Amino acid sequence: MRILVTGAAGFIGHRLTAALRRAGHRVTALDALRGDPGTLEVRRRRLGRLGGHVVDLARDPLDPWLNGIDAVAHLAGATGVRSSFGTGWATAVRDNVTATGRLAEAAAGRARLVLASSSSVYGTVASGLVGEDAPQQPHSPYGASKVAAEAAVQAYRHSRGLEAVILRYFTVYGPGQRPDMAIARFLAAAGAGRPLEVYGDGSQTRAYTYVDDVVAATTAALTRPGIDGGVCNVAGTEAVTVAEVAALIAETLRYPLEIVARAPAEGDVARTAADLSRAAQVLGWTPRVGLAEGIAAQAAAAGLTGVRAPAVGQ
Ligand code: NAD
Ligand code: UGA
Repeated sequence: MRILVTGAAGFIGHRLTAALRRAGHRVTALDALRGDPGTLEVRRRRLGRLGGHVVDLARDPLDPWLNGIDAVAHLAGATGVRSSFGTGWATAVRDNVTATGRLAEAAAGRARLVLASSSSVYGTVASGLVGEDAPQQPHSPYGASKVAAEAAVQAYRHSRGLEAVILRYFTVYGPGQRPDMAIARFLAAAGAGRPLEVYGDGSQTRAYTYVDDVVAATTAALTRPGIDGGVCNVAGTEAVTVAEVAALIAETLRYPLEIVARAPAEGDVARTAADLSRAAQVLGWTPRVGLAEGIAAQAAAAGLTGVRAPAVGQ
């Protein structure tokens, strides 16, 4: 198939692009190269390696990029929960809402659109597992912007016959993870001999999802016939607290665990946990990688496996 990947210089997008090419698809890679100077350099290198193009979905003409395309993996967007307050609002609206609406308009009647949405559309899952028909109660501007992005896609489905699949990813981790996210921050801190900063009491729980499982679910959403209109959770099966993740990282690196408590983070949901029966039915997908295995892979990719910190007190 001929596939367009947006956000191809990002954490999930660059891994998806490489996997789709290995599977024999012809992939065009786009990214606006957003980010602070350090992040930007990583993204620039990734896009260069992929032979991608610098395109801003919120501003640049999009029609030409849809010529001959069968399906679009739309991963581009503004991503941080905590950074979406204050000035982050305008960025989230531009890169999640305006960009998605423009892409939906360009793709309608031409290509299937797969939207990378988020568990953030649900807010806290008080108990049990959240299903896709649960009410949307976002706790952050980022979550609200993903609700709006989903609504934009649905509007073009209903009005212009856009073929679309919506995936709600749950806290994704693994090699190349964004440096603002918990596991990447914990590994970087441990590697530098600094304490791990835990926001709040560390009881926040996440259904952490390994990046290659996300790539597999997204590939199914792009390629499976007859799934127009599908909305699916894409999540891991282990719901784990932040404190448990910190302990697992210390154990993986054989480091003494040192934690410093920070103020609770704004917009942080207390708990996510996903019902995956829809994903199994629509995508034929279930996650394969457990958290201990996935963290070990991320630590190894960061060059940290087997490193020992000095014993406490030395
Ligand atoms: P990322 O920040 O690493 O990648 C996003 C990419 O989008 C960046 O390279 C950025 O430059 C690009 N981008 C931003 N605005 C753009 C625009 N207007 N035009 C073109 N490119 C633009 O993020 P990620 O963690 O790889 O996430 C990918 C997608 O998955 C995002 O939409 C995110 O909201 C969603 N998601 C991620 C997670 C997670 O845990 N990582 C969880 C749920 C949903
Ligand atoms: C993640 C992504 O960043 C979002 O892009 C995504 O949309 C969202 O998942 C989702 O699933 O919808 P988040 O769950 O906050 O958001 O992921 P992390 O940044 O990895 O944080 C996980 C938990 O660790 C949060 O409770 C956070 O407060 C905590 N944390 C994070 C710390 O305690 N310390 C840190 O240094 C970083």
